[in-house]
Amino acid sequence: MTLRTAFTEKLGVRYPIVSAPMGGEAGGALAAAVSEGGGLGMIGAGRGDREWLRREAGIARAATEKSWGIGYLTWAVTEDAIADALSYEPAALMLSFGDPTPYARLVQDAGTLLILQVTDGEEARRAVDLGADVIVAQGGDAGGHSGENAIGTMSFVPTVVDIAGSVPVLAAGGIGDGRGLAAALALGAAGALIGTRFQASPETLISDEIGKALVAADGEQTEVNRTLDIARNAPWPANYPARTLRNAFLDRWRHRDDELRSTPAALREYEEAAARGDLSAVPVWAGQAVGLVTSIEPAAEIVATLVAEAERALARIGH
Ligand SMILES: Cc1cc2nc3c(=O)[nH]c(=O)nc-3n(C[C@H](O)[C@H](O)[C@H](O)COP(=O)(O)O)c2cc1C
Repeated sequence: MTLRTAFTEKLGVRYPIVSAPMGGEAGGALAAAVSEGGGLGMIGAGRGDREWLRREAGIARAATEKSWGIGYLTWAVTEDAIADALSYEPAALMLSFGDPTPYARLVQDAGTLLILQVTDGEEARRAVDLGADVIVAQGGDAGGHSGENAIGTMSFVPTVVDIAGSVPVLAAGGIGDGRGLAAALALGAAGALIGTRFQASPETLISDEIGKALVAADGEQTEVNRTLDIARNAPWPANYPARTLRNAFLDRWRHRDDELRSTPAALREYEEAAARGDLSAVPVWAGQAVGLVTSIEPAAEIVATLVAEAERALARIGH
């Protein structure tokens, strides 16, 4: 059985599996390991720290000759940052969260595949109009930032598939194992983009404590909030809250965003906790599938496991 799809054909990769461009956490080692495993690895360049990207792109290049990509946060990106990323000759450049209109052509003119991650129907229609090569439909199950009032992956993916027409769609959000990948294909997606599960691999740039917290957590322990972005003074647009693990700071300040902003003592307390890397305050971004993460596994093995499980699931339903 093969998992060949419009996505694997377009990207020339073996499996329809993409690791999410998790800002600052998905570096060159993760991207290379996923690509070596047969998927498409993405470097998470976030807001566009050039030195960081230079180092991580170098690591990816040294570790694999296979294709990999780079992802930016659209609301923070600049034309210079796009040019910078393109200089590393990624196979694909992905933009998420914000209006990609000013940047789409720069990517396409360079002959690089443009991947746009969308969080609602309007963003999906805009991605089609901009000529995206691949659209990532991110449902509200996802770890990290997502759309305000985002609907669940199960409903959102087929909605985007209908909007996208012939453009391949990747499902994102809440896919933690191969059964989820099989379900994504059944929904009409051409593959899956996965963050939380790949975060729990030795190749990501997270601390051991965060890895342990991910392995220990269940999906019920995640929550969508803006509280922790406000506490860490992150300039995220208000319409993109984030799903994180619950923690004591969030328990104290949820639904009190304005009060938190105007309470210097609380902000100071957060800052001190963050300096210690204290997980009772700082965000651990995780999606609803975090309960399916039961160990820290090398990324290439995660790819192989996802493939085997998806093939079993598809065989079970008579694919
Ligand atoms: C730790 C973490 C960081 C993330 N950072 C980014 C990012 O910088 N840019 C981006 O496009 N998506 C980011 N995402 C979202 C992913 O692109 C993707 O939509 C999400 O991980 C899918 O849901 P899952 O975590 O349930 O697999 C992040 C997700 C996680 C878990």
